[in-house]
Amino acid sequence: MGDAPKVTIASHEGRLGILTPGMGAVSTTFIAGVLAARKGLAKPIGSLTQMGTIRLGKRTEDNVPLIKDLVPMPSLDDLVFGGWDIFEDNAYEAAKNAGVLDNELLDQIKDELSAIKPMPAVFDKAYVKKLDGTNVKSGGTKWDYAQHLMADIEKFKTENNCDRLVMVWCGSTEIFLQPGDVHQTVEAFEEGLKNDDPGIAPSMIYAYAAIKMGIPYANGAPNLSADFPALFDLAKETGAPHCGKDFKTGQTLMKTILAPGLKARMLGLNGWFSTNILGNRDGEVLDDPESFKTKEESKLGVLEHILQPDKYPDLYADMYHKVRINYYPPRGDNKEGWDNIDIFGWLGYPMQIKIDFLCRDSILAAPIVLDLALFLDLAKRAGFSGIQEWLSFYLKSPTVAPGLYPEHDLFIQSMKLKNTLRYMAGEEEITHLGADYYDYYQ
Ligand SMILES: NC(=O)c1ccc[n+]([C@@H]2O[C@H](COP(=O)([O-])OP(=O)(O)OC[C@H]3O[C@@H](n4cnc5c(N)ncnc54)[C@H](O)[C@@H]3O)[C@@H](O)[C@H]2O)c1
Repeated sequence: MGDAPKVTIASHEGRLGILTPGMGAVSTTFIAGVLAARKGLAKPIGSLTQMGTIRLGKRTEDNVPLIKDLVPMPSLDDLVFGGWDIFEDNAYEAAKNAGVLDNELLDQIKDELSAIKPMPAVFDKAYVKKLDGTNVKSGGTKWDYAQHLMADIEKFKTENNCDRLVMVWCGSTEIFLQPGDVHQTVEAFEEGLKNDDPGIAPSMIYAYAAIKMGIPYANGAPNLSADFPALFDLAKETGAPHCGKDFKTGQTLMKTILAPGLKARMLGLNGWFSTNILGNRDGEVLDDPESFKTKEESKLGVLEHILQPDKYPDLYADMYHKVRINYYPPRGDNKEGWDNIDIFGWLGYPMQIKIDFLCRDSILAAPIVLDLALFLDLAKRAGFSGIQEWLSFYLKSPTVAPGLYPEHDLFIQSMKLKNTLRYMAGEEEITHLGADYYDYYQ
């Protein structure tokens, strides 16, 4: 048995509403997947909250419960779904359009999916050049739209009899923006909302609405959204946990699995060329150079942070890293990502690694939406507010406390996540030192 819990976690009883701005491929694959798992039609593969275990105590104790049995979490039956989109399609129609899941599966959950209808979106084409839709709020300032979103959220909560809510941004990638004066304080940001400041993109208005109401917020896309001081401060004030950015799914997931291994063995790297072909709406949006720039920044950051060329100049100082994404409609959601990796070993002798990952983007992203929603709800119930760095595991550009560099190594991220869960449950954190098994550590 572990020590007494250090953290008091409020009850998980009641209904948890999961709201997604953006109800496209990822969001509908997530919702449909939960509904299917609920009916026993398929298994929630890829989800730590549903399938993951966690070791407690010594290896000799064989105490390895499911994560969901260690920390109190709602069951899939207690989840309710809602969201916003610029298109009026209900979740069944949107899932059909996305073309990720088979019709045979979708038809078995058609009634539940059809009942989920997107609320009118806060949208501005200036921030996502390739999209146009009619289901949008109009005639107000950014401040008005924030109030409308908060009213939508209240209404959703009442109508669906929810006890708690979480918001996960599953909308399109917006153009590249950097934090400016308007993002520095809550006052400046609220002023900016009232003045329709161009530095405030729609995803920031959703993030503001959620965080203002104390609702946990995760950002699945690479755009800033909540990643700036004004919303950090607001989240601490209102007690909202948050994390972002950009679901870590296909190629970047592979990168953060492989690169730590190369570094751990002190193998050098000359170059890493990554290219993708992708044919879904996300691919179309990323065909716009301004949206691609946001994605590129997010994808490029990982190698630099994992390999630390400043600490290992002989191995990584000359590394050339290039990422391309090309929109190629015939592939739909079934992306192909190629990586050519030029490495070198003993005495500088060169070698190559080639990866051809035929992945399914939304199949990889859907369990992340579920886990982020459930872990953020847990964080909220545990009184953890502000940036949740322990959820970096799921993200390509993790938000971290100002002054810290992000931790990208998937294995360190996994350890951080599991130790946070142990900490919440009052169990001892595991260092992997193994001092209990050998007497020379005394
Ligand atoms: N699938 C993945 O593996 C993956 C990985 C990392 C990040 N992402 C990001 O997740 C997001 C969703 O991906 P997707 O494949 O579902 O894309 P998608 O194009 O199928 O869906 C995005 C939806 O967001 C809607 N939308 C855009 N702006 C909106 C706004 N302001 N308010 C409400 N709705 C809005 C669009 O109309 C669209 O239906 C994208 O930003 C993508 O870059 C996806």
